Amino acid sequence: MANEVGRFTLNDGGSIPVIGYGTVYMKGESGTESIKNAINNGYRLIDTAMKYDNEGSVAEGIRRSGIERDELYVTTKLRGSIYDYDEAIQAVEESLFRMQLDYFDLILLHWPNPKQDMYVEAWRALIEAKEQGYVKSIGVSNFLPEHIERLIDETSVLPTVNQIELHPYFSQKEMHAWNQRNDIITQGWSPLSRGQTVVHDDTVRKIAEDKDKTVAQIILRWHIQQGVVPIPKAAGENHQKENLDIFNFELTAEEMDQINGLTKDDGRIGNQDPIEYEEF
Ligand SMILES: NC(=O)c1ccc[n+]([C@@H]2O[C@H](COP(=O)([O-])OP(=O)(O)OC[C@H]3O[C@@H](n4cnc5c(N)ncnc54)[C@H](OP(=O)(O)O)[C@@H]3O)[C@@H](O)[C@H]2O)c1
Repeated sequence: MANEVGRFTLNDGGSIPVIGYGTVYMKGESGTESIKNAINNGYRLIDTAMKYDNEGSVAEGIRRSGIERDELYVTTKLRGSIYDYDEAIQAVEESLFRMQLDYFDLILLHWPNPKQDMYVEAWRALIEAKEQGYVKSIGVSNFLPEHIERLIDETSVLPTVNQIELHPYFSQKEMHAWNQRNDIITQGWSPLSRGQTVVHDDTVRKIAEDKDKTVAQIILRWHIQQGVVPIPKAAGENHQKENLDIFNFELTAEEMDQINGLTKDDGRIGNQDPIEYEEF
């Protein structure tokens, strides 16, 4: 089995690497070096957001890596404070200027913030940004079926991706199945539960020992085998390499089931239920 990063096809005809690299809190010189190392260690999908306030580090990490722009897949997210149509388009333009890029591969609406009722307007702005050539694919993050159904009803444009909290203690089986039925790729944020809880789980540890792999590798393999794109963050190179070394083994159906069985109704890391939680 070749240990290579493959791609999933998107509903707009594009494609996306099956694993990415998360950059939240990666800033300044140390963040820049981590991002550069991640790219040189083989990550091609780089996940950032306007809210992370690290566009300089991501841009500089890309520049230092020496990897050509067209080999990379750069995702950003529109923050909830700029869901006004005109402001949103200008924010995308400003973000491109700051990151010294001609285009993004993917822009997501970061949170639905349903009480504000602005996400359809923001979605129209992303549709326009795509028409302007500022972005190749558009999608959402933390959206529930009711929010996506409204986007489809009101704009007829289906998101390509829905990025949601997803790890073995909060496996989001129903939301992922809903995304799949609607031809939307699920991305998993905090796939390693921020390096806490599930990375110390005995069931996963046992599978890891049997397979001569690490717990993190088992968890990330579990994501990919069910068609989810995990975007683990890892500052150091050892974890970066370890987290990519997951394409030379498979989990059995029984092992997948054991991990599926670990999910909990209250398994979210924080209290970030998109029905209530808002982020700007
Ligand atoms: N859309 C959203 O609302 C949203 C929300 C949260 C996050 N995100 C995105 O998702 C990305 C990932 O989520 P996250 O950063 O919250 O958490 P995560 O990727 O689940 O976990 C990161 C933590 O796990 C540790 N780690 C990495 N590899 C490891 C390994 N092989 N063994 C043990 N520990 C390991 C890291 O430590 P080291 O750094 O020391 O390796 C770090 O402390 C973010 O960076 C961000 O891009 C999106």
